[in-house]
Amino acid sequence: MNDLGKLEDLPGDYVAALRARNLVPLWPSLRGVLPPQVPTRQTQPTHWAYADIRPLLIQAGELTPIEKAERRVLVLANPGHTLEKMQASAAMYLGMQLLLPGEWAPSHRHTPNAVRMVVEGEGAWTTVEGEKCPMERGDLILTPTGLWHEHGHNGDQPVIWLDVLDLPLAYYLEVSYHLNGARQDTLPGEGVRNYARAGVVPTPVFGRSGRRYPMLRYPWADARAALLSLAANQPDLAPVQVTYVNPETGEDAENILGFHALMLRPGQTLTLPARSPAVVYHVIEGAARVATEARGFDLVPADTCCIPGYTATTLSNPSTTEPAFLFVADESPLHRKLGVYEVRTDGQPALPAQT
Ligand SMILES: [Fe+2]
Repeated sequence: MNDLGKLEDLPGDYVAALRARNLVPLWPSLRGVLPPQVPTRQTQPTHWAYADIRPLLIQAGELTPIEKAERRVLVLANPGHTLEKMQASAAMYLGMQLLLPGEWAPSHRHTPNAVRMVVEGEGAWTTVEGEKCPMERGDLILTPTGLWHEHGHNGDQPVIWLDVLDLPLAYYLEVSYHLNGARQDTLPGEGVRNYARAGVVPTPVFGRSGRRYPMLRYPWADARAALLSLAANQPDLAPVQVTYVNPETGEDAENILGFHALMLRPGQTLTLPARSPAVVYHVIEGAARVATEARGFDLVPADTCCIPGYTATTLSNPSTTEPAFLFVADESPLHRKLGVYEVRTDGQPALPAQT
């Protein structure tokens, strides 16, 4: 590969003349923005232990009333992006949110898409466009772009959940903003019951739902049962994974980020090829080791880690008696829409031809 000219190769007065006119020579920076083979990634493999987060989050509850926080969150910030950027990866934001008994996080809506993965506690709910979604450990609740949502809590212990948003992307695109609203009226019934069984959808008078987000709450009990059923029906070494989808269309549940649940059988090791999206792993039950060539993390329940894109990863369950269940978030819907989604099975670039 040719060595390209450097900025210091140019006369100082020439560079100054360019800068004064808001001009920049490309060639000294070309390899930086278009590196060979593998993209430059700010995202670093990072592990956030729940045992570290929890006491500091509870302390936040003592230090800052909900009225002064609106959303009481400690952001899981990737140091590779600098902590001030508050992002886990290029497109993903992670926050651990605390709601204390009797508190209410007021209704708002915003351009970024969000989901909640419930980590701890009982008695809280999220109301999305009037649909009251109970929050139980492991439940996934969607609050997609533009939908009103608020959180309340009738229990007697703290409730904590993991927020996953595409906020860094929305902010980068300069489309990130929010609107505040009045407390929502609650609709009757539970939306999740409309999609209680796979393979059948409601068709009143033969019509299909036209809602972009027909299902807002994905109970953990259902996802867990699906994983166990899949595991019982597959050879011992087969990966056991499900993806949260729109039950009307089969498409990803949200537009930008993908959400999945994965089961590791007792003692199982799963080798995942390098893929273009960054990936977040969060342990719902059991334990898991998440390892790349460079780093390895031992995760216990409620721990979270982030792995940059283009990085082969090995997942293993250290228990020989108990399965492990992981919630997985990634940037795959975004990469597919952009036409840059890659799986590097042999480690080589596999950018698909665009047809
Ligand atoms: Fe929100």
